[in-house]
Amino acid sequence: MKVKTREGIRDFRTVWMEGDIVKLINQPLIPHRFEVFECKNHQETARAIKTMVVRGAPAIGATGAYGLAQAVLQFTGDFSAFPDFLNRAEQTLKGTRPTAYDLFYATDRVKAQVLKARSLEEARETAKKASQDYADKSAEQCRKIGEFGRDLIKDGMGVLTHCNAGALACVDYGTALAPIRFAHQQGKDFTVFADETRPRCQGARLTAWELAQEGIRHFVIADNAAGHFMQKGEIDIVIVGADRIISSGLTANKIGTYGKAVLAKENGIPFYVAAPSSTFDFKSEEIPIEERDGDEVSHMFGLRENGETGKVRITPKESPVKNPAFDTTPARLITAFITEKGIFKPGEINQLAEKD
Ligand code: MRU
Repeated sequence: MKVKTREGIRDFRTVWMEGDIVKLINQPLIPHRFEVFECKNHQETARAIKTMVVRGAPAIGATGAYGLAQAVLQFTGDFSAFPDFLNRAEQTLKGTRPTAYDLFYATDRVKAQVLKARSLEEARETAKKASQDYADKSAEQCRKIGEFGRDLIKDGMGVLTHCNAGALACVDYGTALAPIRFAHQQGKDFTVFADETRPRCQGARLTAWELAQEGIRHFVIADNAAGHFMQKGEIDIVIVGADRIISSGLTANKIGTYGKAVLAKENGIPFYVAAPSSTFDFKSEEIPIEERDGDEVSHMFGLRENGETGKVRITPKESPVKNPAFDTTPARLITAFITEKGIFKPGEINQLAEKD
């Protein structure tokens, strides 16, 4: 993605690796500051996933892949102890966030390739290549989602999106934002409505920042405003991302997505889910929903008038809160899935089960 920095416009991926250091765009600082965050070992990489320095399913997947490669590169013990070490590193990375399937898919893939190595030297080379290939392929998948999805967006449309399913949530391009980006590049004239997406406000902070960087016309709206704009005829299509999709088409995405899908159905508006095949989990029958720290609900984080960033409390100290990070949308509310292999109706997604 193109980012305006003090040194001019530069191309960035959300996550990359230099030597044995995993580098991430530091997302909690956006939109107020743009900084790169460095993870010096796989434990730090795991912490960065858990604390959401990096977030968004495909981005978490690529970070997990690089994190596992980083562990391999930094292993100094005897080769006989290597498989145990690899298992522990894998568990550390997988133990960070339970819902986004890409994390499990990516680490499993890198691990399977590394385990074929017959020496530590070979394991290191394999880990470097497997993680880089994973990230490159993931970026390419999102580019294709953009190409397939852009034709759904027509001149004059209002496009609603929820959370951030942009380049920041992926290695590059985005999932829900890729069709939006590509339609804009075709010169189409449309307006994006970005749900603010409490509690962490990924829509207000990250989606709005990406759209502003690209010069795409948009409005940030309060989470409870979408129904109003649908009734007024200002929203013609909804496109969201996904954290995990199971074979029934049941789709986990950022909390609040389900409500938007119900509203879209009630108003006769098509509801699309954009996701690469790494988000489709054909083995599970249930989706684990992450419960995050209540502070995210009881407080808001932002830029104060004096230019400093900080946290303010908005609820009484006595009030307990609940904070599920995701909800699930049933297939009957989903018009189709936009993937790197084309656009599939919910009943057709099992064709994606063969992933390579
Ligand atoms: O908690 P987050 O910010 O990781 O949640 C992100 C989302 O729910 C995104 O919509 C999803 O990961 C799709 S990202 C392309």
